[in-house]
Amino acid sequence: MVKICGIGAGYVGGPTMAVIALKCPSIEVTVVDISQSRISAWNSDHLPIYEPGLQEVVQKCKGKNLFFSTDVGKHVSEADIIFVAVNTPTKSRGLGAGKAADLTYWESAARVIAEWSKSNKIVIEKSTVPVRTAEAIERILTHNSNGVSFQILSNPEFLSEGTAIEDLLNPDRVLIGGRQTPEGQMAIQTLKGIYAHWVPEDKIITTNLWSSELSKLADNAFLAQRISSINAMSALCEATGAEVSEVSHALSKNSKIGSRFLNASVGFGGSCFQKDILNLVYIAESNGLAEVASYWKQVIQMNDYQKDRFVKRVVSSMFNTISGKKIAVLGFAFKKDTSDTRKTPAIDVCKGLMGDDACLSIYDPKVSEDQILRDLAMDSVEWDHPVHLQRKISPNTMKQVRIVKDAYEATKDAHGICVLTEWDEFKTLDYQRIFDNMQKPAFVFDGRSILNAGKLREIGFIVYSIGKPLDPWLRA
Ligand code: NAI
Repeated sequence: MVKICGIGAGYVGGPTMAVIALKCPSIEVTVVDISQSRISAWNSDHLPIYEPGLQEVVQKCKGKNLFFSTDVGKHVSEADIIFVAVNTPTKSRGLGAGKAADLTYWESAARVIAEWSKSNKIVIEKSTVPVRTAEAIERILTHNSNGVSFQILSNPEFLSEGTAIEDLLNPDRVLIGGRQTPEGQMAIQTLKGIYAHWVPEDKIITTNLWSSELSKLADNAFLAQRISSINAMSALCEATGAEVSEVSHALSKNSKIGSRFLNASVGFGGSCFQKDILNLVYIAESNGLAEVASYWKQVIQMNDYQKDRFVKRVVSSMFNTISGKKIAVLGFAFKKDTSDTRKTPAIDVCKGLMGDDACLSIYDPKVSEDQILRDLAMDSVEWDHPVHLQRKISPNTMKQVRIVKDAYEATKDAHGICVLTEWDEFKTLDYQRIFDNMQKPAFVFDGRSILNAGKLREIGFIVYSIGKPLDPWLRA
């Protein structure tokens, strides 16, 4: 039986390995992690991450050909193929701080592989890494190998959180990069053979290592760029009376542009976009390509501008002071259908509102109280490190924040509502009831443009919706 070891039981490692186990019953898959709490959660009925369909897939395979363990050495040593899906945060200190990828976790995984391997192995980069990381990993492995041979492949992951299982079951494409040597090509064929259990062959693209590594960074940069582009238009729409959803619709009908990633919002979040663009910027700068670097940097600057603009809009609409006012925050996850809050725009918006002394009452259907408090108290450099290495936060440190169990409690006696995640349940709330229980004038700031602004105005709300013509109140 072929044995696979997946290092890193996170948002990528967990679902990816679970789907391989589901589709390849003849392969034994073990996911390992240095975090005991993550592994215990995978081994319980309360998985550490929320993804639609994940629970069912894990339930079908767990204990049969899918296992979760903290015994990294044992499972590395037994595996024929090792996937590495560990954190690759942005460096917080030293050379390249604030831009370059921090490969500490990757390197320590590589050293464990070298130490425990007694037979030849294929080692696969699933983490998003800078171009030419495979070369560095190859060196670490071969210089510590005790005669064992390793083939390194790049197999970046393109899943989106919230639709991870669907994306893994029906990927647009699978990308595999490897060395252009006979051994490298054989390793590519082995990995192709695994995906071929469920992915049509014409969707499996093979390239050299560096094209594959760069394609992943480029992919995220292009997606984020589209969001920043439409967000830039949303600011123009508000200034001119155009309506951003109408502009998006018109653009989407151009087959050369397409319809995805054209929703204006309070800004993009998630663990990947910002860090991967910064990584791209750093690589461009390191190669003396200042113009390329500054081009991509703008995508992040536009995203920061969008969050900042939103906070300013809230404060200026509410008579230039939100000090002591209760503001309800609906949604904290970086997008709907996930419990992930990494780099969610809600963190910056909430911190901005707290900076103006607002009292926040936050409700999210899937994010825990502990997570929200930790995010709001955490240094921005800490968020992408393994959970057990992050500081614990005492709830008392956050006197301005309350986390509540539903939207009605959050909005009771509030002066304003900020919608920061596009959860479907926010569209169907009883807004008349909410209005009746709020302070007046009652404001709604819809950072995802999901609510029916016309209906809310009929009820009596003053409404700001990203990219839509401004309420007369807000124009004054
Ligand atoms: P995550 O933080 O959810 O999971 C990473 C896991 O690796 C953590 O549980 C951590 O404890 C573990 N870990 C760190 N060092 C380890 C070591 N030496 N040995 C064993 N376990 C170790 O991160 P996530 O989101 O799964 O991302 C992993 C990689 O995949 C990153 O490079 C990310 O950029 C990339 N990626 C993430 C996507 C996403 O949507 N989250 C999509 C595509 C790629």
